[in-house]
Amino acid sequence: VSPVSTMKSFIMTTLLPLSYAFQTGRVFQSVHTRAKVEVRGAMEMRTPFIAGNWKENPVTLQDATSLAESLKPLAGSLPCEVGIAVPYPFISAVAGVLEGTDIQVMAQSIHFEDSGAFTGAVAATMVESVGCSYSLAGHSERRSVFGDSDAVVNSKVKKILETKMGAILCIGETQGEFEAGLTNEVNAIQLSKGLSGVSAEDMSRVVIAYEPVWAIGTGLVCPSDTAQLVHESIRAQLAKLYSSEIADSVRIQYGGSVTPDSVDELMSKPDIDGCLVGGASLVAEKFGRIMNFEEA
Ligand code: 13P
Repeated sequence: VSPVSTMKSFIMTTLLPLSYAFQTGRVFQSVHTRAKVEVRGAMEMRTPFIAGNWKENPVTLQDATSLAESLKPLAGSLPCEVGIAVPYPFISAVAGVLEGTDIQVMAQSIHFEDSGAFTGAVAATMVESVGCSYSLAGHSERRSVFGDSDAVVNSKVKKILETKMGAILCIGETQGEFEAGLTNEVNAIQLSKGLSGVSAEDMSRVVIAYEPVWAIGTGLVCPSDTAQLVHESIRAQLAKLYSSEIADSVRIQYGGSVTPDSVDELMSKPDIDGCLVGGASLVAEKFGRIMNFEEA
């Protein structure tokens, strides 16, 4: 056996899988997490990811930093990756408060241009440079209140991925679409349009958040069995767009009225890899319990 072929085989069998595992978030620093991930089975080696979305809250810097402070003691040995999407003016300060914890700071949106005469806009590189490791794109409130189309959402996803950050692409059907039985179709369209032009390689930094619009801020949690079926269908669509290997590695979060009472059951579903939490992320004890979920 020549040294070249030994080296080749070492790269193929050891280095490449290891690097893939790191890129897809399959390797996470906490031993607790690793144990938790292993019990989810070989096909589901996806590190759970709980994210908070503060939206346009709280209303002052002081309130934001004290909310972040109160999360610190609750972020001991977490069973998952955790991030919170905070309003732009508070990103630096909240990142400072959370430094040294496992809670990452994220942006809620970015503009798809790099820089220039775009009053009020914030670039991906700007939020990255103040400490964000992810940005959301396509949240339903951005789509409905600010008019972000699928094309705009797609430009944002690609712009986020031009940095080193991860992108959380939010998709989800409205109540009318849900009642018309169009859930899977709507999600498939938002998914393929949102990911248009995103390479297979970059999918290691993409997270999908399934947020049924009718469940956001309404107290109506999508029943976990229904959410599981939708997540399965989203994963099948990812397999069509990319490959089954990529589909198996991408994390799909559920969002919509998640609370400490619903998180455990949601997280016990095989295709629900995390949650995107709005209202409950503004109450430290609630978000603390959610990020320390126990699979039911
Ligand atoms: P709620 O948890 O308040 O329903 O919000 C969900 C959401 O929109 C997270 O992005």
